[in-house]
Amino acid sequence: MNALSHNRIQIMHGVNLDQLGRRNPAHYGGITFSQLEQTIDGFAGELGLDARFFQTNSEAEFIEHLHRLEEVADGVIINAGAWSHYSHALGDALEIAGLPAVEVHLSDVMAREPWRHVSVLAEHCIATVSGKGADGYRKALEALKAQLGG
Ligand code: DQA
Repeated sequence: MNALSHNRIQIMHGVNLDQLGRRNPAHYGGITFSQLEQTIDGFAGELGLDARFFQTNSEAEFIEHLHRLEEVADGVIINAGAWSHYSHALGDALEIAGLPAVEVHLSDVMAREPWRHVSVLAEHCIATVSGKGADGYRKALEALKAQLGG
């Protein structure tokens, strides 16, 4: 039995993440999006966390989902793709959600183009994990579990 009562983790993927498997393997490897979600679900199960998944290519839908999150999740993992680097609207929505959040990037954004070095989400997150591929989500889940008292 899981001792952690607040264990609902919303995994939010933004623009173009659904196209994993078709993206540059030098940055993203060969993993498909459904394989990534299955891998994260497995990590969550091992940690006693209940992962729920959401992906959209619409910034408005992504923001509206964040607005509804408080009632249905205890923590959030966010990989917003390119929005991470410029969408202050998304940063505001993450602040409104008011939940512990961890930002994840599959690729090592600091080793890529300068525009990817900026994150407008980081200030609303307890941690950022970058460049560790799917394993980065395990680290993010562990950070949220610790934050939620697990
Ligand atoms: C990404 C990194 C972003 O710079 C990029 O726009 C993505 C994916 C990552 O997971 O490495 O779409 O968030």
